Amino acid sequence: MRSVKGKEWYQADEVAQEYDSKRFSKGGRLIDRREKEAVLAALGPVEDKNILEIACGTGRFTVMLAQEGANVVGLDISRAMMVQGREKARSAGVADRIEFLRGDAARLPFPDNHFDAVFAMRFFHLADTPAKFLAEMARVSKEQVFFDTFNDKSFRVTYNWLLPMGSRLYSNDGVNRLLADAGLALADAKHDFVIPFGFYRKIPNGIAQPFRSLDLAVGGTPLGDDFASVSYWNARVTTDTDESSRAATRASDAE
Ligand SMILES: C[S@@+](CC[C@H](N)C(=O)[O-])C[C@H]1O[C@@H](n2cnc3c(N)ncnc32)[C@H](O)[C@@H]1O
Repeated sequence: MRSVKGKEWYQADEVAQEYDSKRFSKGGRLIDRREKEAVLAALGPVEDKNILEIACGTGRFTVMLAQEGANVVGLDISRAMMVQGREKARSAGVADRIEFLRGDAARLPFPDNHFDAVFAMRFFHLADTPAKFLAEMARVSKEQVFFDTFNDKSFRVTYNWLLPMGSRLYSNDGVNRLLADAGLALADAKHDFVIPFGFYRKIPNGIAQPFRSLDLAVGGTPLGDDFASVSYWNARVTTDTDESSRAATRASDAE
């Protein structure tokens, strides 16, 4: 079995230092914007909420949520990524609303039902044991779990094998099974980016918007959801999670 792909990769200082500029400059700016909108739309209003961000990385969302008045814990396995996050929080003047914590998403150091909401962005494509991660997120959340996935029916499939780490790609059915096993009920799912991220990252910001408009137009057709490369999953914690479903989760991860 492959190990968790991003666990080692993001430890390197140069990877962490270049993380934002490689992905979210040029046409990638609109990806950053869209992802932030997705997080705020799902979690908001966040003022005075206690929120845990799993795999917070360079703190793109951590800082945004603190600016909106939330108390945020950002957990990540990479010290180097969180160095960037701490710097961002200081420059934005919200360091006092954020705790950056080094830790493994597979074993969260919090009691059950500790946060109002728990979310992870750009994390599940790195995970070889997603059921374990999702079960932990559900365990420590009182109300809500939110995350994104990269999809297996999208154009991303055509270049996924070229990427240094590849990505785990998900089907809708696969995510629905993961949610059920973690004791989560799907409240809302949004599917976006028929044109995959890699394309936007390569083109100048000035010409990205017309492609995005085309992307949204195709995404709005009946076939749009089927070809979307990204999905945003907004789920509620249910009370009927029993030990047997958690045991099933552990068993499926062990396979
Ligand atoms: C693609 S980056 C995403 C960062 C941030 N969520 C964002 O969207 O900008 C993936 C992050 O997952 C973190 N990561 C990977 N495996 C992890 C684990 N087992 N526990 C906690 N963080 C992990 C990496 O260190 C990295 O910061």
